[in-house]
Amino acid sequence: MSTLQNSPDGTHAPANLMSMSRRTLLAQGLVAAAGVAVAGVSDPMRRALAGAPKAPRVAFDLDAVSDYVQLRPGAQTGVWRYAFRQTAGAAGTVMPGPSYLGPTINVPLGTSVRCKMSNGLAAKHIIHWHGLEVPAEADGHPADAVDPGRSFIYDFPVPSRAGTYWYHPHTDMLTGVQAYMGLAGLFIVTDPKERELGLPAGDRDLPLVLQDRKFDANNQLIFADPGNTVGMLGDTILTNGTVNASFNVANVSHRLRVLNGSNARIYKLAWSDGSPITVIGSDGGLLPAPVTRPYLMVAPGERYELYVDWRSKQVGQSVTLQSLAFQAVIPGQTTLVNGAAFSVCQFNIVRAEVDTSVLPSSLRPMTLYRLQDARNATTPRTVTLGYVTNIPNCAPCWAINGSIYSMNSVRPQDVVPAGQLEVIEITNPILGPAMPHPMHWHGAHFQILSRERLTTPTSTYNTVNQGFCDAGWKDTVLIYPGERIRILMKWTKHTGVYLYHCHNLEHEDHGMMLNYRVV
Ligand code: C2O
Ligand code: CU
Ligand code: CU
Repeated sequence: MSTLQNSPDGTHAPANLMSMSRRTLLAQGLVAAAGVAVAGVSDPMRRALAGAPKAPRVAFDLDAVSDYVQLRPGAQTGVWRYAFRQTAGAAGTVMPGPSYLGPTINVPLGTSVRCKMSNGLAAKHIIHWHGLEVPAEADGHPADAVDPGRSFIYDFPVPSRAGTYWYHPHTDMLTGVQAYMGLAGLFIVTDPKERELGLPAGDRDLPLVLQDRKFDANNQLIFADPGNTVGMLGDTILTNGTVNASFNVANVSHRLRVLNGSNARIYKLAWSDGSPITVIGSDGGLLPAPVTRPYLMVAPGERYELYVDWRSKQVGQSVTLQSLAFQAVIPGQTTLVNGAAFSVCQFNIVRAEVDTSVLPSSLRPMTLYRLQDARNATTPRTVTLGYVTNIPNCAPCWAINGSIYSMNSVRPQDVVPAGQLEVIEITNPILGPAMPHPMHWHGAHFQILSRERLTTPTSTYNTVNQGFCDAGWKDTVLIYPGERIRILMKWTKHTGVYLYHCHNLEHEDHGMMLNYRVV
C-alpha cells in the first residue's frame, strides 16, 4: 500500500497549524506546547492547559522521493530528497532545509517525536537519527528497511543532550548512494538553559552542512563508487547544498554548526584571515569550555560548533572557510583528492551591527568519566581496523576485528551491558593499505580518553595532529593510520541491537560495520 502524498509542485510546505481545527490541536495536546493562541477556550480549560505542561510533541512525515533541483547553471540535477509535512507540534519546528537537504528539525530537549517515513524510492530505505540516543526500534537499523511504497513509523523522546544532530539513510549496502543523492537533514536539539549563555542566536546561528559531489556534463550526479578502498569523493564542494556558497553576514559574532555530511571526504578547516578556529561544541553539543585550534580536522559524520567573532571586520570585507592540504595516506583518484586544499564557503560582511556579547569561558559542565570506574578498566574492548583479503565476495575489504557486516548476526563479543561504563581501545594499524577511519557508535555518546600516535609517520602526522578536538561528548572519532585511541562509553540504557561502523560511507557499505547488542 502506497502512503505517499507528494505535492506535485515539489514545494512541500509544512502544514499550517493555524488552519487545523482547534479540536484537533486540543485533542493532540498541542495548544499549550505550541504556544498557539487559545482564544475561545473556556477559562478552566485554559488554566488546565497552562497548569499541566506536557512534554512538547512534534509529528512529521518524511517522504524519500526523487526530485530535481537547480545546483549549477544549466540543467537541473536529479536528486533524492526528503519531502515533508509537519502534522503536529509548534509551528517552525520542522522547517524546509536548504537546497536538496531534508527539513531542519529544531526541537527542545524532551520533545516526543513521531515521524512517518514513506519510501518513494525504487530501493529499500530506512532513516537513522545520527547521535540521538533512541530506543533500538527507532534507531533505523538496516534490518528495519522498508520496501518501495511502504512506510516506517518512529516514536521516540528527544534525549537529554542539546546539540547538532542529523538524519540520513542506513539501508544495508546502500547508505552511501542514498545519502550521496541528497537524503540527509539536520536535527537540532535546543536547551532553554543554553540561552543564558548568550551565544549568538537567530540569524547568527548558522548550520553549515559540508558535502562534495561529482557532476557529469549534463549536471547529473555521478556516483562512481570506486570499489572499497577510498570512498566516494566529489570534485565540487557544496555547503548547505549550494556550490560556491557565500553568506552575507553582519560584522558580529556567529555560532556555526558544522556537519561533515560527505561520504568520504575529510576537511581540515581553517580561516583565510589566519584566525584560529574556536570550537565551542562537538557531536554531543557544547563543550565544557571553548578550545582553539590552528585548524580543525572534521571527518564524515562529525559535527563541530564554531564561534567566530567578526566585530573587527569592516563592511565590504570577506572571510573564507578553507580546507587546507594534509597527508591523507591514500588520497583517492579524483581531481580533488582527499587532502587537497580548497575553499569551502565565503562570508561577506555586508552590514554593521552592534554586538556587545562575550563568549563565556565556561559553556556546559561535563562530568568526566574515569578509567577506574569502567567495569573492564584493565581489559579494554578492542576494536582493530584493517583490511581483510580472506572473506569471499569481499576481497579485499575494510573490516573491524577481521569481520565484515552481517545484518542479522551479533558476534558474542559484541554483547554489552546496558547502562554500564566500559573502555574501548581502537587501533588503526598500518599493515599494508591504511586509511583514516571515522568510527561511529550508535546508541550513546562517549568521551575520548586518549589519543596516541604509535606508527603514523611524523611527516604525515604533522599535517593533521594540531586539528583534533577530542573534548566533549562524541559519537564519531577519526582514527588516523598508526593511531590508538581509547574511549569511555556508558552503553545506552535501551536494550536491543545497535551498530558501530566506519562513517566513510563506502567503507560502511562494504562491510566496515558490526552489530552490537545491549542487554
Ligand atoms: Cu551517521 Cu550509522 O550513522
Ligand atoms: Cu549514527
Ligand atoms: Cu573507514
